[in-house]
Amino acid sequence: MTQRPLYSRIIGTGSTVPPNCVTNQELAERLAARGIETSDEWITARTGIRQRYFATPDTMTSDLALTASKNALCAANIDPQSIDLVIVATSTPDSVLPSMACLLQHKLRLRNDCTAFDMQAACTGFVYALTIADQCIRGRMCRTALVVGAEIISRLLDFDDRSTCVLFGDGAGAVVLQASEQAGLISSVLHADGSHTDILCVPGRVSGGAICGQAFMSMDGQAVFKLAVNLLEKVALEALDKAHMRAAQIDWLIPHQANIRIMQSTCRKLELPLEHMLVTVDRHGNTSAASIPLALDEAVRDGRIARGHTIMIEGVGSGVTWGAAIIRF
Ligand SMILES: CC(C)(COP(=O)(O)OP(=O)(O)OC[C@H]1O[C@@H](n2cnc3c(N)ncnc32)[C@H](O)[C@@H]1OP(=O)(O)O)[C@@H](O)C(=O)NCCC(=O)NCCS
Repeated sequence: MTQRPLYSRIIGTGSTVPPNCVTNQELAERLAARGIETSDEWITARTGIRQRYFATPDTMTSDLALTASKNALCAANIDPQSIDLVIVATSTPDSVLPSMACLLQHKLRLRNDCTAFDMQAACTGFVYALTIADQCIRGRMCRTALVVGAEIISRLLDFDDRSTCVLFGDGAGAVVLQASEQAGLISSVLHADGSHTDILCVPGRVSGGAICGQAFMSMDGQAVFKLAVNLLEKVALEALDKAHMRAAQIDWLIPHQANIRIMQSTCRKLELPLEHMLVTVDRHGNTSAASIPLALDEAVRDGRIARGHTIMIEGVGSGVTWGAAIIRF
């Protein structure tokens, strides 16, 4: 007997940001005290960012992941014991070992035999994690997945480097994905090209009981900008092509929230009206793997995204990695 085709659908979303909001003006004042010059005008004009949230030193990334996950589980209205897969996309885990997914599984008191692992694909992490969770569900390895993007990127920031420290913020977003006979994730594409490792990296490593090398983020902003604009257009078209869809059929574009100029460029190239793009970068900054699920949850909760809407998510990040997915919500 042939099995019916199986899909995965998002049945709940959740998110959180830490309480400490830092405006551009406040950040500029902090940097001025270190002899570094920047301004609200510069940051707003070049990036679209007006504020970001920074976690306090006693907050762990798993704390943010936990709150976002609880919110998503509550929205999904399911028994948490039905979760049989946990994937956490992050570049800023609590520790080298064990994985954030195992820490989160325990904090949530989920079944103690589910599959749990982390996804390190930098700012593309959530697109990667969602795609892999979808494949696990379609392959009938599991039925209900918790997929999280969580970051405390501020721990990697060098506050003497004005070209990076103004760009990022902390936060977490989560979705519950469940097996369904109705289409949810329609198409997705994932890519990486390791020849661009130098333009965006945190090269430090743990060795001999200490951190060896630079543990701050280092970035060639202009190189990343050019690559991002190019890759995001290409990957969006690829995902559309795979889904046999046109850009005009997309209700909401949720790009990785890195820089409003990069995001608007993709939207224009796809000939999508800017009103169809979700923007949180102004309030969150770049929260890396958390940015897409944060924006998704915000728009689900305020009613902009409704059941039946078609969403495209897409991201680019260190590696470089890049990817896109089309979702029927
Ligand atoms: C980082 C970024 C905002 C810089 O904007 P830009 O328009 O490319 O600016 P440039 O790098 O050309 O720098 C222009 C000038 O602004 C200065 N500058 C950099 N950061 C500044 C800051 N925070 N405040 C004031 N001036 C700043 C530079 O020193 C440079 O000065 P100079 O002309 O005297 O040398 C932009 O390149 C960018 O967003 N890149 C992509 C980053 C990204 O998305 N990364 C994450 C990907 S997941």
